[in-house]
Amino acid sequence: MQTITRLDMLRNNVAWLRRDGATLALVPTMGALHEGHLTLVREARRRADHVCVSIFVNPMQFGPNEDLDAYPRQLEADSALLEAEGVELLWAPSVEEMYPGGFATSISVAGVTENFCGADRPGHFDGVATVVCKLFNQVRPDIACFGEKDWQQLATIRRMARDLDLPAPMAGSIVGIPTVREADGLAMSSRNRYLTPEDRAAAAALPRAMRDAIGRIEAGESVSATLTALKDRLTEAGFTSVDYADLADADSLRPLTALAATPARLLVAARIGGTRLIDNMAVGAATV
Ligand code: PAF
Repeated sequence: MQTITRLDMLRNNVAWLRRDGATLALVPTMGALHEGHLTLVREARRRADHVCVSIFVNPMQFGPNEDLDAYPRQLEADSALLEAEGVELLWAPSVEEMYPGGFATSISVAGVTENFCGADRPGHFDGVATVVCKLFNQVRPDIACFGEKDWQQLATIRRMARDLDLPAPMAGSIVGIPTVREADGLAMSSRNRYLTPEDRAAAAALPRAMRDAIGRIEAGESVSATLTALKDRLTEAGFTSVDYADLADADSLRPLTALAATPARLLVAARIGGTRLIDNMAVGAATV
């Protein structure tokens, strides 16, 4: 595996990998890799001849009250994991390489970023869209793989790629990989490590309550009553608060009060102890 920190070197290495028309997949990450990321890497490997993983803790997507310095950085351990997965390129630019002096551009995707995590984290998705657009232009992959766990992020990136007619990857080649779950159903996340054993046990109520709510909505029960019951159930299970629990159109993320013919998603963010957990699941027969 080549670890690359300069853009000119990246371009040379990408050209060399693609010399015989081989295909390239990109898996963008911020490092601190866990099984969820490695699943993305394995899926990328299945779908393309070569895999490039980027590790870049992107300052532009952190708000003033979010601790950028506290974000875990473990490049050596991450490299060993990627090497073992057979990744060919690790793109790990510095902040100066990604945002040279005078950098002044920001991509803002309206609509899809307005609710849910976007409402709590102003500017966050502008930072994500900007860095992902740069990563796409730097690597020019045939496909890019993202976890469905961050559904709003995935919907934002797809919207951006469609709106800007990005050629590499094209919007249709932005692949969402289903969320990897622990044995009790909790979505894998680097945040799970902050849960106490009691909170970790209680957190399993989140996917269970979501599945039950989906069953009720699909059986035709009222969406608003079901979502209220879902929030109550999470609070009873030990969650300190529920930031949101909503049904939304899977593509536009417009909130829905009833199932429609287009794909829908149940999205939840809830806090347990000091940790905020997010999850989302498909609702109804229509799929993205
Ligand atoms: O999901 C992440 O790790 C980040 O938001 C991403 C997509 C790598 C952009 O910095």
